Amino acid sequence: MAHEKLWGGRFTQPTDKFVEEFTASIQFDKRLYHQDIRGSIAHARMLGKQGIIPMADVEEIVHGLQAILDQIEAGKFDFSVSLEDIHMNIEARLSQRIGEAGKRLHTGRSRNDQVALDIRLYLRDELVEISAYLDLLIDSLIFQAEENLGVIMPGYTHLQTAQPILFSHHMLAYVEMFKRDKGRMEDCLRRMNVMPLGAGALAGTTFPIDREHVAELLDFPEVTRNSLDSVSDRDFALEFMGAASILMMHLSRFSEELILWSTSEFRFIELSDSFCTGSSIMPQKKNPDVPELVRGKTGRVYGNLMALLTVMKSLPLAYNKDMQEDKEPLFDTIDTVKGSLKIFADMIRELRVNSQTMRQAAAKGFSTATDVADYLVRKGMPFRDAHEVVGKAVRYCVENGKELPELAMTEWHLFSARIDEDIREAITLEASVNARAATGGTALERVKEEIERVKAGK
Ligand code: ARG
Repeated sequence: MAHEKLWGGRFTQPTDKFVEEFTASIQFDKRLYHQDIRGSIAHARMLGKQGIIPMADVEEIVHGLQAILDQIEAGKFDFSVSLEDIHMNIEARLSQRIGEAGKRLHTGRSRNDQVALDIRLYLRDELVEISAYLDLLIDSLIFQAEENLGVIMPGYTHLQTAQPILFSHHMLAYVEMFKRDKGRMEDCLRRMNVMPLGAGALAGTTFPIDREHVAELLDFPEVTRNSLDSVSDRDFALEFMGAASILMMHLSRFSEELILWSTSEFRFIELSDSFCTGSSIMPQKKNPDVPELVRGKTGRVYGNLMALLTVMKSLPLAYNKDMQEDKEPLFDTIDTVKGSLKIFADMIRELRVNSQTMRQAAAKGFSTATDVADYLVRKGMPFRDAHEVVGKAVRYCVENGKELPELAMTEWHLFSARIDEDIREAITLEASVNARAATGGTALERVKEEIERVKAGK
């Protein structure tokens, strides 16, 4: 209905039905209802304090908005597509409820600064939640690191056996990544936490508003400094989506490892049944659906970032309707990241480690070859020569179907006279791991210290 529109004055023809639907955002921006009402209440209070609208109207507006909030939360609010978005749905309903006073709410404000405020308020809360989910996941990783302290697995480069490492060290590698992800979310929050209301449509407003007061009411430490930028900036959303993409990349790498480790070829771990599904045809199957899906969902989070970057890339200042396209990718990213983190935190906590299989795998593939070379260096041989000597010993082992610890002293002496009985002790898995004892290394003592450090939140 044309008369329903809040901007109907300029128009003589009603909007085409399909155009209405095509241009509306209420289908997805209704999730901003809480932030929209919160922002409107702060705006109304400020208008009252500044004497721009009567205090009596402010009271009516605040009560009216609170009633609408209750109605929405009770699922009793009828959202209307012809009212386009959440801002106009709420404002129109307010005027229906309280009349004149409701029609004064939009004084000194535009939907352009209103939506900039609402998204910031929304994302701000979500960032806090995402950080909390990251903490849960970090806790699960620390739990596994402690549960399996001392378990040795093969460490890889190029997915080829490289050197033995502690399983706990591997878990702590992800702790480091997720801690940085948390840091990126916090950085993003800091830059986003600036109050844009008061920018009006683009140039500011003619009314004597008090932006700092609105910021205070809404818990923003500062206000934006340029009205054009306030209504046209979406880099805070892009920054979040960039950080979310990196976070999903980490989850995806981890997923890949979990999938690989649970194959019958590896059998390093067992995922809990509750995170897997069976096959409708192959009775033996237990598929790692959860990590597979998280790996897959990484694609949409990257896609969302590219979508919004592309939406923004050639927009002239200030607001353009294109920017309404910010919401779906942003909301989808938030939902996907939260869901992935939550499910990962639970799945990691319930994961079972086959320490024997890991250990056996670590003992294969000449994983201690570097330790033999380092041993020779300690006996006075230059590293490059030692590398050559051990290379030959490995070739000998390959040809004779042996592993390095199986060589007899006479065989060792085919490669170097410097090798003594003490080579045996030097190339056990434990010795190999514990020899890597500088900060950041896989030695048990270092790993224990790191567990304590991350537990203390450092
Ligand atoms: N629904 C719009 C959006 O999400 C709100 C801002 C609309 N402003 C305007 N001038 N049409 O971007």
